[in-house]
Amino acid sequence: MWLYLAALVGLYYLVRWYRERQVVSHLRDKYVFITGCGSGFGNLLARQLDMRGLRVLAACRTEKAAEQLRAQSSDRLETVTLDIGKTESITAATQWVKERVGDRGLWGLVNNAGISGPSGRNEWLTKQDFVTTLNVNLLGTIEVTLSLLPLVRKARGRVVNVSSVAGRLSLGGGGYSISKYGIEAFSDSLRRELAHFGVKVAVIEPGSFKTNMSNTERVLRQIREGWNQARSEIKEIYGEKFLESYLKLISEHVLPAAEENLSEVTDCMEHALTACHPRTRYSAGWDAKLFYLPMSYMPTFLADAILTRGLPRPAKAL
Ligand SMILES: NC(=O)c1ccc[n+]([C@@H]2O[C@H](COP(=O)([O-])OP(=O)(O)OC[C@H]3O[C@@H](n4cnc5c(N)ncnc54)[C@H](OP(=O)(O)O)[C@@H]3O)[C@@H](O)[C@H]2O)c1
Repeated sequence: MWLYLAALVGLYYLVRWYRERQVVSHLRDKYVFITGCGSGFGNLLARQLDMRGLRVLAACRTEKAAEQLRAQSSDRLETVTLDIGKTESITAATQWVKERVGDRGLWGLVNNAGISGPSGRNEWLTKQDFVTTLNVNLLGTIEVTLSLLPLVRKARGRVVNVSSVAGRLSLGGGGYSISKYGIEAFSDSLRRELAHFGVKVAVIEPGSFKTNMSNTERVLRQIREGWNQARSEIKEIYGEKFLESYLKLISEHVLPAAEENLSEVTDCMEHALTACHPRTRYSAGWDAKLFYLPMSYMPTFLADAILTRGLPRPAKAL
């Protein structure tokens, strides 16, 4: 009985491995538009796909970053400046993409750009802090997608949305996790709707990786900014000691555990764009696969106990 079961599981993985190795044809004729190519995953993915021969249309937030990327890639890679938080910028970039892809349409749209935004405890923050993050990570991604979808449909292509393990488990206050939960929901409905048109939608859920976003100074600054603007009664409830212990925990234990090999994430993105049978979800990083994802299926009381272990207690906690 156990032998049959083991053989069945083995067969399942063998078939899956074989299916996932099938690659789409004519990759050199396919256009892929990637947002947030100035640094991190987007930058590496743009260079990786360029080396593989795809026609990369890379969007960077600044012209300086675009220039640097062009200097590191082939003449086939083209860049455009795009701020996904601004409608007029998205309209201009869409026109730019249209002019390049013509009747072929857009094979791949990778919604990668994002910010960590103001963070800390929810109570320290203002509505505007949440708006800032959601406007880029969630609404910006939605607007870019809606704008480019007609071109993706024409190519029967792919939409690859970058979420996070924070889209499965809310790991901190502020708009970041909320935006990633939103990306998961948006991708879910989009996947079912677009299946009618031969368009496939994949979600990438990385764990923690060392990029500008997880830069220690930047993260600590964002938490301090949140704290500084908190009302005085809130500061009293938490106390300075809470803030210092919280910052210490983040800087000494959480951020140093981030992984350095960004290709674990970009390889998933590449597979989602080039495989005949892409997955609907990709977890990238050991922490995502072995810790956060299993925890997202645990009973809430257990996940809460694990996630709050080691966290400081507010001065006026019961
Ligand atoms: N690093 C991680 O541990 C981690 C984990 C899970 C998910 N993610 C997700 O992965 C994606 C890429 O992040 P990353 O880690 O590679 O960080 P990153 O190096 O900071 O890259 C983010 C990119 O997005 C760009 N960007 C920011 N705001 C933008 C806007 N309004 N319009 C257009 N582009 C904008 C940034 O440009 P500027 O630098 O010019 O602002 C930057 O090039 C994000 O969606 C992030 O949420 C990251």
